[in-house]
Amino acid sequence: MMKGLIAPHGGALVANVATEPERLALQEQAKGLARITLGSRQLADLEMLAIGAYSPLLGFMTQTDYLGVVNDMHLSNGLPWSVPITLAATSEQAATLKEGSQIALVDAQDKLQAVMTLAEKYYYDKQREASQVYRTQDDAHPGVKVVYQQGDVLLGGSVRVVALPQQTFAQYRHTPEQSRQLFSERGWQRVVGFQTRNPVHRAHEYIQKCALETVDGLFLHPLVGDTKGDDIPADVRMRCYEVLLQNYYPVDRVVLGVLPAAMRYAGPREAIFHALMRKNYGCSHFIVGRDHAGVGNYYGTYDAHHIFAQFDPVKLGITPMFFDHTFFCRVCDAMASSKTCPHGNEQHVTLSGTKVRQMLQAGEMPPREFSRPEVAQVLIEAMCQLVR
Ligand code: ADX
Repeated sequence: MMKGLIAPHGGALVANVATEPERLALQEQAKGLARITLGSRQLADLEMLAIGAYSPLLGFMTQTDYLGVVNDMHLSNGLPWSVPITLAATSEQAATLKEGSQIALVDAQDKLQAVMTLAEKYYYDKQREASQVYRTQDDAHPGVKVVYQQGDVLLGGSVRVVALPQQTFAQYRHTPEQSRQLFSERGWQRVVGFQTRNPVHRAHEYIQKCALETVDGLFLHPLVGDTKGDDIPADVRMRCYEVLLQNYYPVDRVVLGVLPAAMRYAGPREAIFHALMRKNYGCSHFIVGRDHAGVGNYYGTYDAHHIFAQFDPVKLGITPMFFDHTFFCRVCDAMASSKTCPHGNEQHVTLSGTKVRQMLQAGEMPPREFSRPEVAQVLIEAMCQLVR
């Protein structure tokens, strides 16, 4: 392991990708195997498993790990893990599959992606998963909805990945090994990771830069897997980051990458999950702001901070950096948070997501105190194209 950087979760990166000779053999062998077609979320999970971003997982969770994660946020080996990584099948599909056998995991075009050794198939309690992981059984919650809509049986077992999905954002799709290499080349040891699924605004920039003040480097790591329909598409968000970096960030202190995983919107549980993945990418620190990975009103503003207290910091390994709600204050004439600003809300420039969207759709620039003009311009152009 690279000297100086944090160790991956479990001590070593576990990349479940087939070697070249193995790949050829698996492709041959797969011709005679039962097939399961994966959707975009499972394909993303497969990529995460392939590149070691889900270390120490060897594949989709077997029942002991699944129950350990759902019930008390730990894998059976004692390591913290907060979100199930599962492969669901219908009862009819599962009935045709034999435990101990191999199955071919294919994409929608029937192209082989991985061969899985089916250790076990098991029924699970969807309502319990919903209330434990998402803290609600409401099917209007986008993460819960996925659980309710998927098959009733989970397939657990290790995977050997033979093909990585279509490589969008290729120049930013660093594997954990590659990001570690990039950090090492820059001489960084203390690296703070930033998760995001929204267009970057001044509050994001502020907390990123506050965090960077105390560490060696910043890993900007927007999630580009599935998001809910009304979130801004990943390519637009990446263009926002490109113009922001060109104009406002020191190039030698920042690495921009993408996280291929899907959003779960699991709030506090997902904050832990997001942190563990970034640990694998080589981050020693991780930013958790207000309502991290939240949706609607399912979570308290700082629930994603509080959940960290439930873990042994040594086992977690990565150190969270918490930020209160931040905004621009007209009296302070600076970015601030409720922690650092004594003035009332009426002095704070805060805009709801809906309001910003309305402004952008009307071709109107949000205030500079909310969004950098270069970023707003990218968003306005993207909105105009969507409307057209
Ligand atoms: S998230 O689903 O990925 O959490 P988003 O991209 O909006 O959504 O947030 C990225 C990170 O910035 C999260 O850690 C979130 O808590 C934090 N964050 C977003 N807006 C603010 C804000 N105004 N003040 C403090 N933290 C914020």
